[in-house]
Amino acid sequence: MKKTVAIIAGTRPECVKMAPVYFELLKSETLRPVFVSTGQHRQMLDQTLAVFGLKPEYDLNLMQPGQTLPDLTGRVLSAMTAWLAEHKPDAVLVQGDTTTVLAASLAAFYARIPVGHVEAGLRTGDMASPFPEEMNRRLTSPLARWNFCPTEVSKANLMREGIDPASCSVTGNSVIDALLRVRDRQKEQGLDAAAVAAKVGIPEKFTERFLKKPGAPWVLVTGHRRESFGGGFERICEAINRLTQEHPEVGVLYPVHLNPQVQEPVKRLLGDNPRVALVPPAAYEEFVWLMDRCAFLLSDSGGVQEEAPSLGKPVLVLRETTERPEGVTAGTCTLVGTDPDKILAEAHRLLGDRAEYARRSALKNPYGDGHTARRIREILEETLR
Ligand code: UD1
Repeated sequence: MKKTVAIIAGTRPECVKMAPVYFELLKSETLRPVFVSTGQHRQMLDQTLAVFGLKPEYDLNLMQPGQTLPDLTGRVLSAMTAWLAEHKPDAVLVQGDTTTVLAASLAAFYARIPVGHVEAGLRTGDMASPFPEEMNRRLTSPLARWNFCPTEVSKANLMREGIDPASCSVTGNSVIDALLRVRDRQKEQGLDAAAVAAKVGIPEKFTERFLKKPGAPWVLVTGHRRESFGGGFERICEAINRLTQEHPEVGVLYPVHLNPQVQEPVKRLLGDNPRVALVPPAAYEEFVWLMDRCAFLLSDSGGVQEEAPSLGKPVLVLRETTERPEGVTAGTCTLVGTDPDKILAEAHRLLGDRAEYARRSALKNPYGDGHTARRIREILEETLR
């Protein structure tokens, strides 16, 4: 009989990075994947599941509006404990550093079910940034029987913390598997500006002036980090307003995260700027298309920092630290924090200095070749007994 591997996902990025692992395990002769959603992000997760044609076999549906971290952690821990007791999978896979990851790993540990941590070993070294993700991932590493590290850098982090080397393997990052899969499909289907604009809800003016004109410079923005709630987001919005004042030729497209702490300042401060298009969170497929065509990105997202080197798009990272030094080393990602002067200085360079832009948009592949999911499957097939 095949062994059951429960794949747990609660948020948009977990779904993107777990989809390739799920489809790879479906091919296994000895393992059977079961997709379990905690529903930490109701709308954003459902939107992403749809892109990959994934239907969770089980949905714990735990999101509540304005959820606090302790509430959500408690709800995931109890609901996962009950689910594991009923379904008794042979292994549990989690991905990344969200509340879903920590609480589901702990539930599996209590139930004595082995845990595999996809994207293990990322560290900023600062417990306050990203908060609470740095702590979530640190606590998950010793709970895991398999630590699937994206790069040698992440594996070395785990070695320094005394994590059992036998649990660690370098597999690459499955986000590249997802990215390549989605780009291939876009090519087959010939996705174009009009279709993307209609699906994302991009205003016609912006579409005509920027998306349909090759070479018209526009910037793609995303942001959701708790460290930036309040003043940080206000400063980011100030920088965007100043960017459009100082560069009248530049447009800004900003799919705004659904967290109310993000929505409020962004709509208040950018809602009236005619050169900024605020749109709902874009589905992964359209987001990849947009990343591929913007001039550069302003973002605090982890996934974007990983995808950008493969797409050759410079990212000004709206954070003080990063757990993804590979993108910085490659030259694609630059840490700018939330200081408007710093953001603008770097944006000016990218818009005004062709040689610098060329250097920072050189294609690099620090996160692997798109075969991460296969490596994870092979390791599980060999070692899950
Ligand atoms: C979470 C993760 C973060 C991850 C990010 C990706 C934690 C602690 N944080 O942050 O690591 O990078 O997701 O997006 O796990 N909401 C909706 N609909 C949605 C999604 C969110 O309404 O589809 C609202 C809810 O009111 C929710 C709030 O956003 O209470 C915040 O969501 P939450 O999961 O607590 O944290 P994020 O900031 O999204």
